[in-house]
Amino acid sequence: MRLDGQVAIITGGARGIGEGVCKVFCAAGATVAMWDVLGEGEKTAEKIAATGGNIFFQRVDVTSKLQVQEAVDKIMATYGRIDILINNAGIIRDRSFLKMSETEWHTVMDVNLNSLFVTTKAVLPYMKEAGYGRIVSASSVNAMAGAFGQTNYAATKAAIQGFTRSLCKEVGRYGITVNCVAPGFIKSDMSDSMPPEVLEAGIRMIPTGRIGTAEDMGYCYLFLASKEAAFVNGITLHANGGAYPI
Ligand SMILES: NC(=O)c1ccc[n+]([C@@H]2O[C@H](COP(=O)([O-])OP(=O)(O)OC[C@H]3O[C@@H](n4cnc5c(N)ncnc54)[C@H](O)[C@@H]3O)[C@@H](O)[C@H]2O)c1
Repeated sequence: MRLDGQVAIITGGARGIGEGVCKVFCAAGATVAMWDVLGEGEKTAEKIAATGGNIFFQRVDVTSKLQVQEAVDKIMATYGRIDILINNAGIIRDRSFLKMSETEWHTVMDVNLNSLFVTTKAVLPYMKEAGYGRIVSASSVNAMAGAFGQTNYAATKAAIQGFTRSLCKEVGRYGITVNCVAPGFIKSDMSDSMPPEVLEAGIRMIPTGRIGTAEDMGYCYLFLASKEAAFVNGITLHANGGAYPI
């Protein structure tokens, strides 16, 4: 599953799962445009480039139509192609529903869900023209399982699955596939800050006996973004170590 000669946009790549996806895609030979609102994306990209990765950072807020369009224009002017879009950027603003503010609701909708309208609209015409494309977005185990305090988050992650299943029906005929990954419990800044006993209790629920890693997720994205996955379309790849059987 090589990506040589292909150009991939990976949103939210400055850290966490997105950083893992950037590393795996670079190792597979892709040229990666890493998008993030965090300035530290520049350093992450430099670190990956130092190991031989073909990667550059673009400071892009995925909710901004203007910033997304400018970044896409630059990629097209330089490389003339966008083969892969990974919609990984996402946030949480957890609070029980009765206490949740309108801002907490709408911010999560904007970053996690409405951004897909912006990013996908910007790249899809180029993919259609090329007769090839891969769009893979971040859902979550909590789209199916639900979670206390995550009505906003779970709603966006379930909506992404519906978006995926619908868009795949529209663009499959152009050689474009649309899929998503639903990560389970993945090692992150958040899991690192949990009390050890809470972390261990979480891990005990996972049949594979360990927490997932950003690289584990990177390989899920790689499969769905590969040419070899041409007949896989509209699916959600559940990557949770078996903790939540679907
Ligand atoms: N970590 C997990 O256990 C887990 C589980 C299920 C799903 N997910 C999903 O996977 C994705 C990555 O999660 P993570 O744990 O690596 O999170 P993270 O917070 O470590 O990384 C998310 C990245 O997205 C960026 N981002 C946020 N808002 C943005 C915006 N408006 N524009 C551009 N970039 C923006 C952040 O700056 C950050 O670098 C998210 O969509 C998340 O919902 C994560």
